[in-house]
Amino acid sequence: MTHPAKLRVALLFGGQSAEHEISILSARNVLAALDPQRFEPVLIGIDRQGRWLRQDAARLLESARDPRLVRIENGPLVSKETVFAHETAAAIDVIFPVLHGTMGEDGTVQGLFELAGIPYVGAGVLGSAIGMDKDVSKRLLRDAGIPIAAFHTLRRERFEADPAATLSQVQDLGLPVFTKPANAGSSIGVRKVSTPADLEAAVRHAFQFDDKVLIEAAVTAREIELAVLGGTPPAVSVAGEIVVRHADGFYSYDAKYLDESGARLELPAHLAPEVLKRAQALAVRTFEVLECEGMARVDLFLEPDGTLRVNEINTLPGFTAISMYPKLWELSGIAPRALVTRLIDLALARSRRRAALRRSAGSPE
Ligand SMILES: Nc1ncnc2c1ncn2[C@@H]1O[C@H](COP(=O)(O)OP(=O)(O)O)[C@@H](O)[C@H]1O
Ligand SMILES: [Mg+2]
Repeated sequence: MTHPAKLRVALLFGGQSAEHEISILSARNVLAALDPQRFEPVLIGIDRQGRWLRQDAARLLESARDPRLVRIENGPLVSKETVFAHETAAAIDVIFPVLHGTMGEDGTVQGLFELAGIPYVGAGVLGSAIGMDKDVSKRLLRDAGIPIAAFHTLRRERFEADPAATLSQVQDLGLPVFTKPANAGSSIGVRKVSTPADLEAAVRHAFQFDDKVLIEAAVTAREIELAVLGGTPPAVSVAGEIVVRHADGFYSYDAKYLDESGARLELPAHLAPEVLKRAQALAVRTFEVLECEGMARVDLFLEPDGTLRVNEINTLPGFTAISMYPKLWELSGIAPRALVTRLIDLALARSRRRAALRRSAGSPE
């Protein structure tokens, strides 16, 4: 009996975003979950300088689970130009981008995969770009009638031209408000503003990270997260909760990564069945409205009166040992190996579907 050749799965990880180390930890877990019967890993690490370097599987698997101790190892250089050249592309059957943040989660690298004609896991160019931009994603959610927190978007040129007038136009939100860069993550550049005197400095701080800044009414709410897995219809997990304990008073960068007791994950979240059902329906609807594919983690606010609002979507959620996305699926009965296999199968199915589309108006042959 002959065995079909194993599919070569390239894991692309590291990268130049603030989530470099988290991405390496995520890649380690995706690699550990890869079914050796079906898949053969090809590891490509992106170092802080942006160089693409072949990585060794055994070394990655042995690597520490502490973000302070992991790094992209020196290895054979893979040039971005040749990795997608015909002969190399033929050696890769599917790519699993395990990259978080800009240049990984925002559609840029997905565009490269599209041009190379290589199937890839997760959201496409459009869904990735939408998911990364808090202004565009919130406008789409608002248009679909999905509840979100009230917000305004400031653009750099208008703000710089007349800061006082621009800020006076956002007073309807009241206080406190949250200020955040439109394109960021990991709570970078996010501040909670409780007094009018602090608003301008907070906005200027957020403008250091992007040309667009959101000012958002603060909601008093529990933070609930759900995992969505593509398909028709998409599947949704049970819910988890982030219980913030940090002095910042919200799920800040320090609470996420620096202070070990800054936040606690409640898995599953203690929710009334009726609330869970609404949260799950909202997560799936958000996934669809935001043109998502493959996977996403949807983060919600649950207010004391039961109101649910969407905070944001993450199209390449963390896969570390303590990450919500794989944990939520495990609690919902899908182990990491089955999850990773399903994500790769979805990538292959999308690629076949796309390949079958007509590309011209002429009569089909
Ligand atoms: N409108 C809001 N009301 C209450 N808390 C908020 C609001 N916006 C953000 N936060 C707090 O700030 C954290 C980070 O904001 P978020 O928009 O999720 O940015 P990021 O993409 O960096 O995670 C949230 O997890 C939450 O704790
Ligand atoms: Mg968030």
